[in-house]
Amino acid sequence: MASKRRTYQRIAGLYDLLDVAFEYGRYRPLRRLMFEGLSGKILDAGVGTGRNMAFYPSGANVIGIDLSEAMLARARGRQTRAMGRRGRADIDVELRAASVLDTGFADDEFDAIVATFLFCVLDDADQQPALEELKRICKPGGQIRILEYAWSKSLFRRLIMRAWAPWVKWAYGAAFDRDTEQYVEAAGLEIIESRFVYKDIIKLIVVRPKKA
Ligand SMILES: C[S@@+](CC[C@H](N)C(=O)[O-])C[C@H]1O[C@@H](n2cnc3c(N)ncnc32)[C@H](O)[C@@H]1O
Repeated sequence: MASKRRTYQRIAGLYDLLDVAFEYGRYRPLRRLMFEGLSGKILDAGVGTGRNMAFYPSGANVIGIDLSEAMLARARGRQTRAMGRRGRADIDVELRAASVLDTGFADDEFDAIVATFLFCVLDDADQQPALEELKRICKPGGQIRILEYAWSKSLFRRLIMRAWAPWVKWAYGAAFDRDTEQYVEAAGLEIIESRFVYKDIIKLIVVRPKKA
């Protein structure tokens, strides 16, 4: 976990710039989808530089957590700009340093939880504990929405992804081969929806706490 923190402390200043083509070419419509129909108290887990912020629903109370203070500092800058320029006084956003493995929130605290490109950063050994922690703090009936990369089955795309993988690992501590879904059941969650939302490489996984 300390190494992930170091990685993001290092990359924070460049993060938005490095990803700008993907952000506008790929991610923006997906971020909108992640928050569609959500309300109440929402957790943005692994909030990063706050790129989901533009899509937080009106009237929501959103808490964003991240391991890296440098990423949170960028998110705070974005929050100030959004509140000022676009007058988003309709959302209540709090940003704090915390790990998704031990958030410190109360049981059943959130109506919904969103994690965009967080689980591709978590090591395999941390996948289930992270899901268990999100389950603990999500209200029964609440949704946990996860957006993740997966290896493409197309030979051409897979070759491109293979070429990118060492950079993605070094720069972001991330990998394309995390299989978050395999830990869902053991974490006490059930899948509501699982589908590709960008070609066969970005997947939306929606889960909820299993009924007792
Ligand atoms: C690839 S970035 C995604 C950021 C943002 N969600 C987005 O969509 O642009 C992953 C983020 O997860 C954070 N992170 C990594 N491990 C974490 C952990 N255990 N708990 C909380 N945040 C973590 C990193 O610091 C980084 O900001």
